[in-house]
Amino acid sequence: MGSRRFKIFLGVSIFSIIIYCNKSVLPDRPKIPFPKVSYGSKNSNSTDPLNALALPHDYDEKPVGDEYCEERYGLSFMEPFRDSLNAYCDPVTSASTMECLHTRVNPNHHDPFCILNNVMLDRQGGNHSFTLDCNLRNFTADPGKNEPKDLYSFHKYMFGEGPRAAFVNHFIHTNTTNPMPDKTLKALSTCKSGSKSKNWKIVINRDAHGGRHPWHSLMEIFSMYITLDIMRSTARPLDGKPFFSPEDIPDTQVIITDSHPDHNLYELWNLLGFKSVMRLPDYLASENATCLDNVLFPLAGGSNTMWHGDWRLKDCRNSRFLDIFIDRIMGHYGIDHTRKSDGPIVVTFIDRRGRRKFRDQAKHVKRFQENFPNVKVNVVDFADIPYSEQIRIVAKSDILAGIHGAALTHAMYLPPQSSVVEIQPYKLKHRGFRNLAKLLGHRYFNTHCFEDPTADPNWHKVTDIAIEDEKFDDVMKAAVWSVYNSRTLGIDIS
Ligand SMILES: *[C@@H]1O[C@H](CO)[C@@H](O)[C@H](O)[C@H]1NC(C)=O
Ligand SMILES: *[C@@H]1O[C@H](CO)[C@@H](O)[C@H](O)[C@H]1NC(C)=O
Ligand SMILES: *[C@@H]1O[C@H](CO)[C@@H](O)[C@H](O)[C@H]1NC(C)=O
Ligand SMILES: *[C@@H]1O[C@H](CO)[C@@H](O)[C@H](O)[C@H]1NC(C)=O
Ligand SMILES: *[C@@H]1O[C@H](CO)[C@@H](O)[C@H](O)[C@H]1NC(C)=O
Repeated sequence: MGSRRFKIFLGVSIFSIIIYCNKSVLPDRPKIPFPKVSYGSKNSNSTDPLNALALPHDYDEKPVGDEYCEERYGLSFMEPFRDSLNAYCDPVTSASTMECLHTRVNPNHHDPFCILNNVMLDRQGGNHSFTLDCNLRNFTADPGKNEPKDLYSFHKYMFGEGPRAAFVNHFIHTNTTNPMPDKTLKALSTCKSGSKSKNWKIVINRDAHGGRHPWHSLMEIFSMYITLDIMRSTARPLDGKPFFSPEDIPDTQVIITDSHPDHNLYELWNLLGFKSVMRLPDYLASENATCLDNVLFPLAGGSNTMWHGDWRLKDCRNSRFLDIFIDRIMGHYGIDHTRKSDGPIVVTFIDRRGRRKFRDQAKHVKRFQENFPNVKVNVVDFADIPYSEQIRIVAKSDILAGIHGAALTHAMYLPPQSSVVEIQPYKLKHRGFRNLAKLLGHRYFNTHCFEDPTADPNWHKVTDIAIEDEKFDDVMKAAVWSVYNSRTLGIDIS
């Protein structure tokens, strides 16, 4: 370990000498080897400073699953980020720095997150209060790792979220061709530079669904926590210390820059105990600093590999980072989802009120209750219940059932070995909830409504969904029978 630290020190020194001696030459980024850290091994030496780079001990368990699944849902998703660090600004002619790390797990584009240092703040700047002074470095001289050469060519995510949207919508980009105004320039002198103070500002430009769509919001929030865990296990080239550590949590501030409404997932931005999440105008009014030391654009919600499964059947049965995310949410609310072995089986039926209502729902539910008099049935409209309460309801259920829709995401909060029932619009072959259920180790039962020639051909807009009595009875029966053995009921299936 000592020799590794020495190499880092040597690397930094040589780099400084190059800059110092030849300011007119654009230097390459230092090629500092990343410390190879085995993920949180139990017998690691906790007094060794490099162990600070290990992932949290939550990650200790061995990877489960094949390579394909591990690359998307396991630690093999997180690890390659560390070797992808690339600098964007020429260090000699720029006042700010920007470094991005990315994954290529999506074959069509790269998914980055970016760390910005020395960002100037103009409190009167409204939607464009942040200034990044960055002369893009010469990528011809050092092409780096084959990623886009500037933020403008970063991936444009659906519904306008992600690092590029945050940058384009809320930053002014200055450089030698478009220099900083004098008043912004003054701010520079107050910056402490990334190495001394961490004091993170996490700038989030949410997607156009804002907090309304629970799945979109959850993916954005989830991606932020994955980003922080990757940063926790990635060394800064500057000093070999992790980009983010638990001590930084109390000084970390999430700033929401869009003006979409809040809705009930908003509180999850603060799961770990950051300063309270703020809207941009409130933040600007509260902040005195004119230079921000560390700004983060986390991974976009759309980069989350949970999205990849929407239309393809996958055979991935475990995701460490999904499990950890769920534990963090449930821990935050103090909700336990350990299965009770006795008591009645509980079915929670999602009551959709907007589009894709369940035609004759009351009739179907009544028949189900008659078929299974000992099963407790909740019919719940989640829309107006606080998020913590929604989780509490699901955490006490054995079966989550409903028409295709975002509320099925709540399968995350079911106790282990539960069952999920999804009724899909005619011909829809959405696989997202099936794949999610599989990752969670739940059983999953799918069925389709019958064809209604008068219905809107766009399934998003179908007003109501109808299913034959027999089909509904079958799918519910399969689900109920499947949970008998998750409990210690000792009853026959019929
Ligand atoms: C742990 O690491 C420190 C620093 O490298 C070393 O001084 C110490 O002897 C190590 N302890 C054990 C139990 O290996
Ligand atoms: C900032 O942008 C939002 C929409 O994105 C707009 O509603 C708001 O008026 C803008 N604020 C200012 C000060 O321009
Ligand atoms: C300079 O900034 C402008 C935006 O203000 C940007 O379009 C251009 O690519 C930048 N040039 C360099 C070399 O960074
Ligand atoms: C970038 O680097 C290449 C190769 O070293 C060099 O030919 C080119 O002139 C440089 N471009 C600029 C703008 O300095
Ligand atoms: C800004 O300055 C005021 C007055 O000095 C102080 O009360 C406030 O706490 C400061 N805010 C921050 C975020 O530092």
